[in-house]
Amino acid sequence: MSDRTPIIAGNWKMHRDHLEAIQLVQKLAYHLDGADYEGQEVVVCPPFISLRSLQTLIQSDKLAIALGAQNCHAEDEGAFTGEIAAPMLARLDVRYVIAGHSERRALFGETDEVVNAKVKAIQSHGMRPILCVGETLEEREAGRAVEVVTEQLRGSLAGVRVADPESLVVAYEPVWAIGTGRTALPEDAQELCGAVRTELASIYDADTAAGIRVQYGGSVKPGNVRELMALPDVDGALVGGASLSSEDFALIVAHRR
Ligand code: PGA
Repeated sequence: MSDRTPIIAGNWKMHRDHLEAIQLVQKLAYHLDGADYEGQEVVVCPPFISLRSLQTLIQSDKLAIALGAQNCHAEDEGAFTGEIAAPMLARLDVRYVIAGHSERRALFGETDEVVNAKVKAIQSHGMRPILCVGETLEEREAGRAVEVVTEQLRGSLAGVRVADPESLVVAYEPVWAIGTGRTALPEDAQELCGAVRTELASIYDADTAAGIRVQYGGSVKPGNVRELMALPDVDGALVGGASLSSEDFALIVAHRR
């Protein structure tokens, strides 16, 4: 048994306005009881515009939910119309920032180099990156899944130091499993999450790699979370669609009961 703290994060993507966001977190708090949170971290990553109201709600109701953002710019400030900087997020008590989600890579042209700069910016403001990696269906069918993920890790983590292993989270998300209802088979999820850890050991060292949390993401639901979380190298889940339902997300968090 590892002593890595499991981490369940909800990636809301471009869903819910700020009023709906408040409702969703209030309902989530209602559905979760204390035992569900115990020994694990629960994170919600709403759109930027809801971070302030959720910061206030989490503080005033003393909720054991951490705030995450879905993206940030690599520069601390400047003439980057429409962008949000890491220090702005840190001021809102954001603890986690997703970097290199496959939608950002595919739709917004983010390369490993861009992701690498973002990871550094996130860390330099005391926040924790959730670094996403994963292969496309074409790459998997060509037998290149491990190679692709290894390359993404090397590129995105170049020059990134990890003093506290829990300060970096890696999410393995096969692109073909995202939003498709098609989850990776447990043996494939284990193989790739294991490959992530092996590569982390080669970038850092075995001890650091043993302490870094690796999440699985891609159509995680209440019905499949338990078998995924039971895999030796899976320490959590990055949940898209199912995190928009407070009932489902609470069931995912409560997977151990
Ligand atoms: P999904 O999304 O759970 O809807 O497949 C996961 C993700 O994109 O992080």
